[in-house]
Amino acid sequence: MALLQVNGLQKQFDKAQVLRGVSFTLEQGQVLAIIGSSGSGKTTLLRCLNFLETPDSGEILVGGKPASRQQFGLVFQNFNLFPQYTALENVALAPKLLKIGNKSDIQTRAENLLGQVGLADKLDAYPWQLSGGQQQRVAIARALAMQPEILCFDEPTSALDPELTDEVLRVIRGLKQKNHTMIVVTHEMAFAKCVADVVIYMADGVIEEMGTPEEVFDNPKSEKTRAFLTRRFDAE
Ligand SMILES: Nc1ncnc2c1ncn2[C@@H]1O[C@H](COP(=O)(O)OP(=O)(O)OP(=O)(O)O)[C@@H](O)[C@H]1O
Ligand SMILES: [Mg+2]
Repeated sequence: MALLQVNGLQKQFDKAQVLRGVSFTLEQGQVLAIIGSSGSGKTTLLRCLNFLETPDSGEILVGGKPASRQQFGLVFQNFNLFPQYTALENVALAPKLLKIGNKSDIQTRAENLLGQVGLADKLDAYPWQLSGGQQQRVAIARALAMQPEILCFDEPTSALDPELTDEVLRVIRGLKQKNHTMIVVTHEMAFAKCVADVVIYMADGVIEEMGTPEEVFDNPKSEKTRAFLTRRFDAE
């Protein structure tokens, strides 16, 4: 059985139908890349998965059962770290509040996670003392601290310079090697092509096309997908 099943998700804001019946499945350990134009509903889909929005209809199942909030983690485009806390405190905060393990376990786990994203020497740094790429890696460690089954990223590198983008993409690639299941909304077509197992192209609130990177990038079936990809690759 697929780890994640999304069936017929719909979401409307005011009069705008933003998600118009989105359905897909994702296997444990797979990486799903979601691409699509601005306003196509990518962020709204991630926010529904992460319980930040309530869908009007449809269902989200993890392991065949209705999903719960803690099964998903979300890394935002602009990091959203707590400015008054150090890197270590940012990572340890939610597990402490939700009492996931005892204090020293949480502390050790937070240190290990920051080590895993290459920030063992920045435990006591505040967000303003870190580069954008470093802040984003703290945000990834913070999301991992809650041990989500599915980790979601909303354009994790779009606020970063190219050199800093690479270090974040390297961390995401490392997580794939560790068999983490991930959903990445991205404008980095080259990254989607080499890291994703499955690619979804969203247009106007529906999945216009879904397949392997080879299918979607090299042999798109839909005219809309083809036009989007031509625009994207021309821009790069
Ligand atoms: N809270 C909200 N209230 C009203 N409209 C919203 C809200 N959130 C999103 N929308 C609208 O829903 C549509 C889809 O937005 P969404 O943020 O999901 O797009 P996106 O695919 O993530 O775009 P981008 O690539 O620019 O990030 C947009 O038209 C947006 O204005
Ligand atoms: Mg968005």
